[in-house]
Amino acid sequence: MKVLVIGSGGREHALCWKLAQSPLVEKVYAIPGSDGMRDVASAVPVASQEDILDFARLMQVDLTVAGPETVLAEGLADKFRDAGLAFFGPSQAAARIEGSKGFAKELMEKYHIPTAAYQTFTDEAEAVAYVKTQKLPVVIKADGLAAGKGVVIAQTEEEAEAAVREMMEGRAFGSAGTTVVIEEFMEGEEASVLAFCDGKTIIPMISSQDHKRIRDNDEGPNTGGMGAYAPAPVMTDELMKTVRETILQPACDAMAAEGYPFVGCLYAGLMITAEGPKVVEFNCRFGDPETEVVLPMLDSDLAEIMMHCVNGTLSEEDVRWKDGYAVDVVLASEGYPAGHTDGDVITGIEEAEKLGCHIFHAGTKKRSGSFVTNGGRVLNVVARGATLKEARDKAYEGVSAIRWRGMQYRHDIAAKGLKHLENK
Ligand code: AMP
Ligand code: GLY
Repeated sequence: MKVLVIGSGGREHALCWKLAQSPLVEKVYAIPGSDGMRDVASAVPVASQEDILDFARLMQVDLTVAGPETVLAEGLADKFRDAGLAFFGPSQAAARIEGSKGFAKELMEKYHIPTAAYQTFTDEAEAVAYVKTQKLPVVIKADGLAAGKGVVIAQTEEEAEAAVREMMEGRAFGSAGTTVVIEEFMEGEEASVLAFCDGKTIIPMISSQDHKRIRDNDEGPNTGGMGAYAPAPVMTDELMKTVRETILQPACDAMAAEGYPFVGCLYAGLMITAEGPKVVEFNCRFGDPETEVVLPMLDSDLAEIMMHCVNGTLSEEDVRWKDGYAVDVVLASEGYPAGHTDGDVITGIEEAEKLGCHIFHAGTKKRSGSFVTNGGRVLNVVARGATLKEARDKAYEGVSAIRWRGMQYRHDIAAKGLKHLENK
């Protein structure tokens, strides 16, 4: 099989890496890919959706996999399916589960999927009046795709009003802010459960946990994710069963019933509250950096699973997991997340690999034979271990081998998970 992965980050490197291991796969292309992925995929600099489709036709690609949500929201999956080509990722209609928070909330309400109570507003004055009646903290979200940044957790009435005004009037998030969702603040620990879905059958992957803030102890501004581990001990077997029965299967059934069955990876961002797991958000694609820890734990053939999803033949026995844990520490460049510093020379990647880590490149570029920083999140240092502690220690050993000017990372990745295990 020839496989094409759309995207260029750490998630896509992990997808290419896992797909390349399949005995069925003879060739992996990535559009646009990156220098850092060349160990497993050929990077193809193609810009438009039409060109991607033409490339897939020309090279007789057997399976195309979407990394980021943007191409799905633009309808790339539909174009491929219309052309009779296999595509792992939801249609434009199904991708609204991530693309519009209002849409996702309505679907959850209609099908009784547990989530925070909410109201949607298109009128600023009404939104401001409503937000003043809410218990604090209160959560204000821009409706559309805002690259994970359209969420404000307001601690005071003033902050809440300012957030609504900024989103609706100041268009802080462009057209994403013309509709705002105001919702109840959920207290608890967050976890992610990604799931393979073929339109009717949905099989959860092992749980994982992201670390969204830049600094230790979840302090500082939000980022694209500073690390992850899997499985997440907070998600007990019992909770996983609840998530499957009350969230994932109902969401999959709901989308089929509404006429837009979901094919691809459905990502449930969860809050484990005192009343049980509730949905913070759905994403219509693999999570980043969750993918970088979940895929190394997958024992089965990813290409085979994805073909089952595309063909509507997914079943439980297709998805098996390795024992143990995986930990990913993200290394970011100077200035991230406000900005980033490109061009700093990175050393120690091979040393980290010799220590048993696997490196997925997120934002690097090759210059005169060396990798240099080329983005905010730069590298994912991933290690597996029989225990979470072993995986964590090994990942940080790898981290200590890598250096560049201004490199930053969190020192407490997996700490929450280790605490759960201690308390067992
Ligand atoms: P979202 O873009 O919807 O994933 O929100 C980004 C982050 O804001 C989430 O990962 C949570 O940490 C937080 N968040 C969003 N909605 C809520 C909520 N209703 N209660 C508590 N935290 C939330
Ligand atoms: N890890 C957060 C996301 O992929 O959206």
